[in-house]
Amino acid sequence: MSNNPARMHIHDAQTAELRESIFDYARYRLTLDPIPLDYPKSYVELREIMPDTVTESGVGGQQALALFRDVLAPACISIDFPGNVSFIPTAPTEAASMFDLIVSASSIFGGSWMEGAGAVYAENEVLTFIANEAGLPEGAGGVFVQGGTAGNLSSLVVARYKAMKKRDEAGLPRPARWSFLCSEEAHSSIAAAARVMDVDVIKVPVGDDGIMHGSDIEAAGIDWDGVFAIVATGGTTNFGIVDHLESVGEVARAHDVWFHVDGAYGIAAIFAPSTKHHFAGLETVDSFIVDPHKWLYAPFDACALVYRDPAFARIAHTQHAAYLDVLTNTDEWNPSDFAYHLSRRARGLPLWFSLATYGVAAYRDAIESNNRVAQQIADVIRERDYVELVRDPMLSVVVFRRKGWTSEQYHEWANDLFEKGTAMSFPSAFRGEPVMRFAIVNPLTTLEFLVELLDSMA
Ligand SMILES: Cc1ncc(COP(=O)(O)O)c(C=O)c1O
Repeated sequence: MSNNPARMHIHDAQTAELRESIFDYARYRLTLDPIPLDYPKSYVELREIMPDTVTESGVGGQQALALFRDVLAPACISIDFPGNVSFIPTAPTEAASMFDLIVSASSIFGGSWMEGAGAVYAENEVLTFIANEAGLPEGAGGVFVQGGTAGNLSSLVVARYKAMKKRDEAGLPRPARWSFLCSEEAHSSIAAAARVMDVDVIKVPVGDDGIMHGSDIEAAGIDWDGVFAIVATGGTTNFGIVDHLESVGEVARAHDVWFHVDGAYGIAAIFAPSTKHHFAGLETVDSFIVDPHKWLYAPFDACALVYRDPAFARIAHTQHAAYLDVLTNTDEWNPSDFAYHLSRRARGLPLWFSLATYGVAAYRDAIESNNRVAQQIADVIRERDYVELVRDPMLSVVVFRRKGWTSEQYHEWANDLFEKGTAMSFPSAFRGEPVMRFAIVNPLTTLEFLVELLDSMA
Protein backbone atom coordinates (compact mmCIF):
# COMPACT_ATOMS: atom_id res chain seq x y z
CA MET A 1 0.00 0.00 0.00
CA SER A 2 1.32 3.49 -0.83
CA ASN A 3 2.20 5.97 1.89
CA ASN A 4 0.11 8.70 0.36
CA PRO A 5 -1.66 10.30 3.35
CA ALA A 6 -4.81 10.69 1.24
CA ARG A 7 -4.85 7.00 0.43
CA MET A 8 -8.05 6.41 2.43
CA HIS A 9 -9.86 8.97 0.28
CA ILE A 10 -8.82 7.75 -3.12
CA HIS A 11 -11.23 5.73 -5.22
CA ASP A 12 -8.77 3.01 -6.20
CA ALA A 13 -9.47 -0.53 -7.38
CA GLN A 14 -9.34 -1.93 -3.85
CA THR A 15 -11.90 0.57 -2.61
CA ALA A 16 -14.10 -0.18 -5.61
CA GLU A 17 -14.03 -3.88 -4.70
CA LEU A 18 -14.85 -3.07 -1.10
CA ARG A 19 -17.72 -0.86 -2.25
CA GLU A 20 -19.24 -3.80 -4.11
CA SER A 21 -18.80 -6.08 -1.10
CA ILE A 22 -20.47 -3.55 1.16
CA PHE A 23 -23.41 -3.10 -1.21
CA ASP A 24 -23.69 -6.88 -1.54
CA TYR A 25 -23.85 -7.26 2.23
CA ALA A 26 -26.36 -4.42 2.58
CA ARG A 27 -28.49 -5.99 -0.17
CA TYR A 28 -28.29 -9.37 1.59
CA ARG A 29 -29.27 -7.90 4.99
CA LEU A 30 -32.08 -5.75 3.59
CA THR A 31 -33.72 -8.73 1.93
CA LEU A 32 -33.16 -11.42 4.58
CA ASP A 33 -36.24 -13.59 4.75
CA PRO A 34 -36.81 -14.89 7.31
CA ILE A 35 -34.92 -12.43 9.47
CA PRO A 36 -32.99 -14.33 12.18
CA LEU A 37 -33.34 -13.17 15.77
CA ASP A 38 -29.63 -13.87 16.47
CA TYR A 39 -28.22 -13.99 19.97
CA PRO A 40 -25.78 -11.95 22.05
CA LYS A 41 -22.40 -13.34 23.04
CA SER A 42 -20.51 -12.53 26.21
CA TYR A 43 -17.46 -10.29 26.09
CA VAL A 44 -15.26 -13.32 26.81
CA GLU A 45 -16.79 -15.30 23.94
CA LEU A 46 -16.34 -12.41 21.52
CA ARG A 47 -12.80 -11.81 22.72
CA GLU A 48 -11.98 -15.41 21.95
CA ILE A 49 -13.23 -15.36 18.38
CA MET A 50 -12.51 -11.77 17.36
CA PRO A 51 -8.93 -10.90 16.37
CA ASP A 52 -7.63 -7.40 17.07
CA THR A 53 -8.81 -5.20 14.24
CA VAL A 54 -7.93 -1.68 15.29
CA THR A 55 -4.19 -1.95 14.75
CA GLU A 56 -1.56 0.28 13.11
CA SER A 57 -2.03 -1.40 9.75
CA GLY A 58 -5.68 -2.44 10.16
CA VAL A 59 -6.92 -5.76 8.82
CA GLY A 60 -8.27 -4.52 5.50
CA GLY A 61 -11.87 -3.77 4.60
CA GLN A 62 -12.68 -7.24 3.25
CA GLN A 63 -11.48 -8.91 6.43
CA ALA A 64 -13.26 -6.39 8.67
CA LEU A 65 -16.47 -6.88 6.70
CA ALA A 66 -16.16 -10.66 6.94
CA LEU A 67 -15.71 -10.37 10.71
CA PHE A 68 -18.75 -8.15 10.96
CA ARG A 69 -20.82 -10.53 8.85
CA ASP A 70 -19.68 -13.74 10.56
CA VAL A 71 -18.96 -12.73 14.15
CA LEU A 72 -20.29 -9.31 15.14
CA ALA A 73 -23.64 -9.11 13.34
CA PRO A 74 -24.88 -12.51 14.59
CA ALA A 75 -24.10 -11.28 18.12
CA CYS A 76 -26.57 -8.41 17.63
CA ILE A 77 -30.31 -8.92 17.92
CA SER A 78 -32.22 -8.11 14.74
CA ILE A 79 -34.61 -5.60 16.23
CA ASP A 80 -36.88 -6.03 13.20
CA PHE A 81 -37.31 -9.77 13.89
CA PRO A 82 -41.12 -10.16 13.75
CA GLY A 83 -41.09 -12.22 16.94
CA ASN A 84 -39.54 -9.36 18.86
CA VAL A 85 -42.23 -7.94 21.12
CA SER A 86 -39.99 -6.79 23.97
CA PHE A 87 -39.18 -3.25 25.09
CA ILE A 88 -40.30 -1.09 22.14
CA PRO A 89 -38.89 -2.78 19.06
CA THR A 90 -38.84 -1.25 15.61
CA ALA A 91 -39.42 -2.40 12.05
CA PRO A 92 -37.95 -0.01 9.50
CA THR A 93 -39.40 -0.15 6.01
CA GLU A 94 -37.01 -1.27 3.33
CA ALA A 95 -37.18 2.17 1.69
CA ALA A 96 -36.26 3.88 4.96
CA SER A 97 -33.32 1.57 5.64
CA MET A 98 -32.09 1.84 2.08
CA PHE A 99 -32.24 5.60 2.19
CA ASP A 100 -30.20 5.58 5.39
CA LEU A 101 -27.35 4.29 3.22
CA ILE A 102 -27.76 7.32 0.98
CA VAL A 103 -27.75 9.68 3.94
CA SER A 104 -24.43 8.16 4.97
CA ALA A 105 -23.04 8.36 1.45
CA SER A 106 -24.06 11.99 0.97
CA SER A 107 -21.92 13.79 3.56
CA ILE A 108 -24.68 16.14 4.62
CA PHE A 109 -24.37 18.45 7.60
CA GLY A 110 -27.93 18.62 8.83
CA GLY A 111 -27.40 21.41 11.34
CA SER A 112 -27.82 24.49 9.19
CA TRP A 113 -29.84 25.62 6.22
CA MET A 114 -26.73 26.98 4.55
CA GLU A 115 -25.04 23.60 4.56
CA GLY A 116 -27.98 21.23 4.27
CA ALA A 117 -30.86 23.21 2.71
CA GLY A 118 -32.20 20.36 0.60
CA ALA A 119 -32.13 17.85 3.44
CA VAL A 120 -33.57 20.34 5.94
CA TYR A 121 -36.36 21.18 3.49
CA ALA A 122 -37.39 17.52 3.25
CA GLU A 123 -37.08 16.94 7.01
CA ASN A 124 -39.22 19.99 7.63
CA GLU A 125 -41.87 18.75 5.25
CA VAL A 126 -42.15 15.67 7.48
CA LEU A 127 -42.15 17.68 10.71
CA THR A 128 -44.87 19.97 9.35
CA PHE A 129 -46.89 16.97 8.26
CA ILE A 130 -46.64 15.42 11.75
CA ALA A 131 -47.45 18.76 13.40
CA ASN A 132 -50.52 19.17 11.16
CA GLU A 133 -51.72 15.67 11.93
CA ALA A 134 -51.36 16.51 15.63
CA GLY A 135 -53.52 19.59 15.06
CA LEU A 136 -50.87 22.22 15.76
CA PRO A 137 -51.24 25.54 13.94
CA GLU A 138 -49.24 26.65 10.95
CA GLY A 139 -45.72 27.63 11.94
CA ALA A 140 -45.22 24.70 14.29
CA GLY A 141 -41.98 22.86 13.69
CA GLY A 142 -38.78 21.62 15.20
CA VAL A 143 -36.05 19.15 14.50
CA PHE A 144 -35.19 15.47 14.39
CA VAL A 145 -32.96 14.65 17.35
CA GLN A 146 -31.27 11.41 18.32
CA GLY A 147 -34.02 9.93 20.47
CA GLY A 148 -36.87 10.55 22.84
CA THR A 149 -34.53 11.14 25.76
CA ALA A 150 -32.82 13.97 23.89
CA GLY A 151 -36.17 15.30 22.64
CA ASN A 152 -37.76 15.43 26.09
CA LEU A 153 -34.70 17.13 27.57
CA SER A 154 -34.52 19.70 24.78
CA SER A 155 -38.14 20.61 25.16
CA LEU A 156 -37.98 20.90 28.95
CA VAL A 157 -34.96 23.19 28.62
CA VAL A 158 -37.13 25.54 26.52
CA ALA A 159 -39.95 25.29 29.04
CA ARG A 160 -37.73 26.33 31.92
CA TYR A 161 -36.15 29.10 29.87
CA LYS A 162 -39.60 30.50 29.22
CA ALA A 163 -40.49 30.40 32.91
CA MET A 164 -37.18 32.08 33.81
CA LYS A 165 -37.69 34.84 31.28
CA LYS A 166 -41.21 35.45 32.52
CA ARG A 167 -40.00 35.87 36.08
CA ASP A 168 -37.05 38.02 35.07
CA GLU A 169 -39.20 40.29 32.93
CA ALA A 170 -41.74 40.68 35.74
CA GLY A 171 -38.93 41.50 38.17
CA LEU A 172 -39.81 38.46 40.27
CA PRO A 173 -37.17 36.37 42.06
CA ARG A 174 -36.41 32.92 40.73
CA PRO A 175 -37.74 30.04 42.86
CA ALA A 176 -35.47 28.11 45.21
CA ARG A 177 -36.11 25.00 43.06
CA TRP A 178 -37.62 24.58 39.61
CA SER A 179 -39.86 21.58 39.04
CA PHE A 180 -42.20 19.96 36.57
CA LEU A 181 -45.05 17.49 36.87
CA CYS A 182 -45.64 14.14 35.22
CA SER A 183 -47.58 10.99 35.94
CA GLU A 184 -46.05 8.30 38.10
CA GLU A 185 -46.08 6.12 34.95
CA ALA A 186 -43.98 8.54 32.85
CA HIS A 187 -40.87 7.21 31.11
CA SER A 188 -37.48 7.13 32.85
CA SER A 189 -36.13 9.71 30.38
CA ILE A 190 -38.30 12.34 32.05
CA ALA A 191 -36.58 11.80 35.39
CA ALA A 192 -33.25 11.69 33.54
CA ALA A 193 -33.97 15.13 32.04
CA ALA A 194 -34.72 16.46 35.51
CA ARG A 195 -31.40 15.16 36.81
CA VAL A 196 -29.48 16.78 33.96
CA MET A 197 -31.32 20.08 34.50
CA ASP A 198 -31.07 19.82 38.31
CA VAL A 199 -34.79 20.36 38.74
CA ASP A 200 -37.35 18.37 40.72
CA VAL A 201 -39.97 16.01 39.31
CA ILE A 202 -43.35 15.95 41.00
CA LYS A 203 -44.97 12.60 40.26
CA VAL A 204 -48.74 12.75 40.11
CA PRO A 205 -50.53 9.62 41.38
CA VAL A 206 -53.04 8.23 38.88
CA GLY A 207 -56.00 5.88 39.16
CA ASP A 208 -56.14 2.19 38.30
CA ASP A 209 -56.48 2.86 34.58
CA GLY A 210 -53.05 4.56 34.64
CA ILE A 211 -54.35 7.65 32.83
CA MET A 212 -53.33 11.03 34.22
CA HIS A 213 -56.30 13.42 34.16
CA GLY A 214 -56.29 17.11 34.90
CA SER A 215 -58.27 16.30 38.04
CA ASP A 216 -55.44 14.02 39.27
CA ILE A 217 -53.10 16.99 39.11
CA GLU A 218 -55.53 19.31 40.85
CA ALA A 219 -56.13 16.66 43.53
CA ALA A 220 -52.41 16.25 44.19
CA GLY A 221 -52.25 19.53 46.16
CA ILE A 222 -49.34 20.91 44.15
CA ASP A 223 -47.41 23.94 45.35
CA TRP A 224 -47.12 25.66 41.97
CA ASP A 225 -44.27 27.96 42.90
CA GLY A 226 -41.36 26.95 40.67
CA VAL A 227 -43.40 24.56 38.48
CA PHE A 228 -42.55 25.30 34.87
CA ALA A 229 -44.12 22.41 32.92
CA ILE A 230 -46.50 19.51 32.88
CA VAL A 231 -45.38 16.45 30.95
CA ALA A 232 -48.13 14.12 29.81
CA THR A 233 -47.40 10.78 28.17
CA GLY A 234 -48.91 9.90 24.82
CA GLY A 235 -48.50 6.15 25.10
CA THR A 236 -46.63 4.90 28.16
CA THR A 237 -43.86 2.42 27.50
CA ASN A 238 -45.13 -0.29 29.80
CA PHE A 239 -48.82 -0.12 28.83
CA GLY A 240 -49.34 2.25 25.91
CA ILE A 241 -51.54 4.45 28.04
CA VAL A 242 -52.35 7.91 26.78
CA ASP A 243 -52.92 10.55 29.45
CA HIS A 244 -56.07 12.66 29.18
CA LEU A 245 -54.46 15.40 27.15
CA GLU A 246 -57.48 17.71 27.03
CA SER A 247 -57.86 18.06 30.78
CA VAL A 248 -54.12 18.04 31.47
CA GLY A 249 -53.71 20.83 28.92
CA GLU A 250 -56.43 22.83 30.64
CA VAL A 251 -54.58 22.59 33.95
CA ALA A 252 -51.34 23.65 32.27
CA ARG A 253 -53.02 26.72 30.82
CA ALA A 254 -54.80 27.53 34.09
CA HIS A 255 -51.42 27.60 35.85
CA ASP A 256 -49.62 29.18 32.90
CA VAL A 257 -47.03 26.44 32.57
CA TRP A 258 -45.58 24.69 29.52
CA PHE A 259 -47.44 21.62 28.27
CA HIS A 260 -45.26 18.88 26.76
CA VAL A 261 -46.35 15.44 25.57
CA ASP A 262 -43.89 12.57 25.49
CA GLY A 263 -45.25 10.50 22.65
CA ALA A 264 -41.99 8.76 21.81
CA TYR A 265 -43.79 5.48 21.27
CA GLY A 266 -47.47 6.36 21.10
CA ILE A 267 -48.02 9.51 19.07
CA ALA A 268 -47.60 7.41 15.92
CA ALA A 269 -51.10 6.19 16.77
CA ILE A 270 -52.58 9.54 15.68
CA PHE A 271 -52.21 8.20 12.14
CA ALA A 272 -54.55 5.26 12.78
CA PRO A 273 -58.31 5.91 12.71
CA SER A 274 -59.05 3.63 15.67
CA THR A 275 -56.62 5.33 18.06
CA LYS A 276 -56.57 8.95 16.93
CA HIS A 277 -59.34 9.93 19.35
CA HIS A 278 -57.14 9.11 22.35
CA PHE A 279 -55.05 12.14 21.45
CA ALA A 280 -57.76 14.82 21.66
CA GLY A 281 -56.04 17.81 23.24
CA LEU A 282 -52.70 17.18 21.54
CA GLU A 283 -53.43 20.26 19.46
CA THR A 284 -53.02 22.40 22.59
CA VAL A 285 -49.47 21.41 23.50
CA ASP A 286 -46.43 23.67 23.54
CA SER A 287 -44.27 20.75 22.39
CA PHE A 288 -44.34 17.04 21.77
CA ILE A 289 -42.03 14.27 20.65
CA VAL A 290 -42.52 11.12 18.63
CA ASP A 291 -39.80 8.62 17.71
CA PRO A 292 -39.95 7.38 14.11
CA HIS A 293 -37.53 4.66 15.23
CA LYS A 294 -40.26 3.23 17.41
CA TRP A 295 -43.55 3.07 15.54
CA LEU A 296 -43.07 5.04 12.34
CA TYR A 297 -40.99 2.32 10.70
CA ALA A 298 -37.73 4.26 10.48
CA PRO A 299 -34.26 2.99 11.39
CA PHE A 300 -32.42 4.17 14.51
CA ASP A 301 -32.05 6.88 15.46
CA ALA A 302 -34.67 9.58 15.09
CA CYS A 303 -37.02 11.55 17.32
CA ALA A 304 -39.27 14.24 15.89
CA LEU A 305 -39.34 17.16 18.34
CA VAL A 306 -42.10 19.62 17.52
CA TYR A 307 -42.76 23.03 19.08
CA ARG A 308 -45.85 25.17 18.75
CA ASP A 309 -43.60 28.24 18.71
CA PRO A 310 -40.23 27.22 17.29
CA ALA A 311 -39.02 30.83 17.29
CA PHE A 312 -38.95 30.79 21.07
CA ALA A 313 -37.24 27.40 21.20
CA ARG A 314 -34.62 28.82 18.91
CA ILE A 315 -33.76 31.58 21.36
CA ALA A 316 -33.40 29.02 24.14
CA HIS A 317 -31.14 26.66 22.21
CA THR A 318 -29.05 28.56 19.67
CA GLN A 319 -25.33 28.26 20.34
CA HIS A 320 -23.38 31.45 19.73
CA ALA A 321 -19.76 31.50 18.65
CA ALA A 322 -17.82 33.81 16.38
CA TYR A 323 -17.24 31.10 13.82
CA LEU A 324 -20.95 30.25 13.77
CA ASP A 325 -22.24 33.80 13.26
CA VAL A 326 -22.49 33.32 9.53
CA LEU A 327 -24.96 30.50 10.19
CA THR A 328 -26.86 31.84 13.15
CA ASN A 329 -27.28 35.48 12.18
CA THR A 330 -29.82 34.68 9.50
CA ASP A 331 -33.54 34.03 9.35
CA GLU A 332 -32.97 30.63 7.82
CA TRP A 333 -34.10 27.43 9.53
CA ASN A 334 -31.09 25.91 11.25
CA PRO A 335 -32.05 22.59 12.84
CA SER A 336 -29.17 22.91 15.30
CA ASP A 337 -30.97 25.85 16.91
CA PHE A 338 -33.94 23.82 18.13
CA ALA A 339 -32.38 21.32 20.53
CA TYR A 340 -29.41 20.56 22.71
CA HIS A 341 -26.97 19.66 19.95
CA LEU A 342 -24.94 21.26 17.17
CA SER A 343 -23.60 18.88 14.50
CA ARG A 344 -26.28 16.57 13.31
CA ARG A 345 -27.01 13.83 10.83
CA ALA A 346 -30.03 14.52 8.61
CA ARG A 347 -31.69 11.66 10.41
CA GLY A 348 -35.21 12.57 9.35
CA LEU A 349 -34.48 11.72 5.73
CA PRO A 350 -35.11 7.96 5.90
CA LEU A 351 -38.63 8.68 7.18
CA TRP A 352 -39.14 11.37 4.54
CA PHE A 353 -38.10 8.98 1.79
CA SER A 354 -40.25 6.16 3.10
CA LEU A 355 -43.33 8.41 3.41
CA ALA A 356 -42.71 9.70 -0.10
CA THR A 357 -42.23 6.16 -1.40
CA TYR A 358 -45.22 4.41 0.12
CA GLY A 359 -47.56 7.29 0.91
CA VAL A 360 -49.14 8.24 4.22
CA ALA A 361 -52.07 5.87 3.68
CA ALA A 362 -49.70 2.89 3.86
CA TYR A 363 -48.50 4.17 7.24
CA ARG A 364 -52.06 4.53 8.51
CA ASP A 365 -52.81 0.96 7.40
CA ALA A 366 -49.67 -0.47 9.00
CA ILE A 367 -50.24 1.27 12.35
CA GLU A 368 -53.88 0.26 12.26
CA SER A 369 -52.85 -3.35 11.62
CA ASN A 370 -50.63 -3.26 14.73
CA ASN A 371 -53.56 -1.91 16.74
CA ARG A 372 -55.81 -4.61 15.36
CA VAL A 373 -53.42 -7.43 16.26
CA ALA A 374 -53.17 -5.95 19.78
CA GLN A 375 -56.95 -5.94 20.18
CA GLN A 376 -57.24 -9.46 18.75
CA ILE A 377 -54.63 -10.97 21.04
CA ALA A 378 -56.30 -9.16 23.96
CA ASP A 379 -59.54 -10.93 22.99
CA VAL A 380 -57.77 -14.29 22.95
CA ILE A 381 -56.32 -13.55 26.40
CA ARG A 382 -59.82 -12.75 27.70
CA GLU A 383 -61.01 -16.15 26.50
CA ARG A 384 -58.29 -18.20 28.21
CA ASP A 385 -58.48 -19.04 31.87
CA TYR A 386 -54.72 -19.26 32.61
CA VAL A 387 -54.00 -15.69 31.56
CA GLU A 388 -55.66 -12.34 32.28
CA LEU A 389 -55.22 -8.81 31.02
CA VAL A 390 -53.75 -6.38 33.51
CA ARG A 391 -55.39 -3.48 31.65
CA ASP A 392 -57.28 -3.20 28.39
CA PRO A 393 -54.84 -2.12 25.67
CA MET A 394 -55.32 1.42 24.37
CA LEU A 395 -52.68 1.23 21.64
CA SER A 396 -50.48 -1.70 20.59
CA VAL A 397 -48.99 -2.79 23.93
CA VAL A 398 -50.76 -5.72 25.59
CA VAL A 399 -49.98 -6.52 29.22
CA PHE A 400 -51.24 -9.64 30.93
CA ARG A 401 -50.41 -12.05 33.70
CA ARG A 402 -49.90 -15.79 33.47
CA LYS A 403 -51.84 -16.77 36.56
CA GLY A 404 -49.72 -18.50 39.14
CA TRP A 405 -46.34 -17.84 37.55
CA THR A 406 -43.43 -16.47 39.54
CA SER A 407 -40.91 -14.07 38.07
CA GLU A 408 -38.53 -17.04 37.63
CA GLN A 409 -41.12 -18.93 35.57
CA TYR A 410 -41.69 -15.95 33.26
CA HIS A 411 -37.95 -15.59 32.76
CA GLU A 412 -37.38 -19.32 32.21
CA TRP A 413 -40.09 -19.33 29.54
CA ALA A 414 -38.77 -16.17 27.88
CA ASN A 415 -35.12 -17.28 27.97
CA ASP A 416 -36.00 -20.61 26.40
CA LEU A 417 -37.72 -18.90 23.44
CA PHE A 418 -34.88 -16.39 23.17
CA GLU A 419 -32.21 -19.09 23.11
CA LYS A 420 -34.11 -21.04 20.47
CA GLY A 421 -34.43 -17.90 18.33
CA THR A 422 -38.22 -18.20 18.37
CA ALA A 423 -39.18 -15.01 20.15
CA MET A 424 -37.89 -12.08 22.08
CA SER A 425 -40.66 -11.76 24.62
CA PHE A 426 -39.38 -10.72 28.01
CA PRO A 427 -41.65 -10.02 30.96
CA SER A 428 -42.07 -6.63 32.56
CA ALA A 429 -43.35 -5.70 35.99
CA PHE A 430 -46.25 -3.69 37.30
CA ARG A 431 -46.51 -2.49 40.91
CA GLY A 432 -43.97 -5.11 41.93
CA GLU A 433 -45.72 -7.98 40.14
CA PRO A 434 -44.13 -9.74 37.13
CA VAL A 435 -46.31 -9.43 34.03
CA MET A 436 -46.02 -10.37 30.39
CA ARG A 437 -45.99 -7.66 27.78
CA PHE A 438 -46.32 -7.73 23.99
CA ALA A 439 -45.25 -4.49 22.27
CA ILE A 440 -46.53 -4.79 18.72
CA VAL A 441 -44.99 -2.32 16.25
CA ASN A 442 -43.98 -4.67 13.46
CA PRO A 443 -46.56 -5.28 10.72
CA LEU A 444 -45.01 -8.75 10.27
CA THR A 445 -45.87 -9.74 13.84
CA THR A 446 -48.94 -11.88 13.35
CA LEU A 447 -51.82 -12.83 15.60
CA GLU A 448 -51.02 -16.50 14.92
CA PHE A 449 -47.50 -16.05 16.26
CA LEU A 450 -48.75 -14.37 19.44
CA VAL A 451 -51.35 -17.10 19.93
CA GLU A 452 -48.53 -19.66 19.71
CA LEU A 453 -46.69 -17.75 22.43
CA LEU A 454 -49.83 -17.88 24.57
CA ASP A 455 -50.19 -21.61 23.86
CA SER A 456 -46.65 -22.15 25.07
CA MET A 457 -47.55 -20.55 28.42
CA ALA A 458 -50.44 -22.95 29.09
C1 LIG B 1 -42.59 7.03 26.35
C2 LIG B 1 -41.13 7.07 26.05
N1 LIG B 1 -40.46 8.23 26.18
C3 LIG B 1 -39.14 8.32 25.94
C4 LIG B 1 -38.42 7.22 25.55
C5 LIG B 1 -36.96 7.37 25.28
O1 LIG B 1 -36.74 7.34 23.92
P1 LIG B 1 -35.29 7.02 23.32
O2 LIG B 1 -35.02 5.60 23.67
O3 LIG B 1 -35.48 7.23 21.85
O4 LIG B 1 -34.34 7.97 23.93
C6 LIG B 1 -39.06 5.99 25.40
C7 LIG B 1 -38.30 4.79 25.03
O5 LIG B 1 -38.79 3.69 25.03
C8 LIG B 1 -40.45 5.92 25.65
O6 LIG B 1 -41.13 4.77 25.50
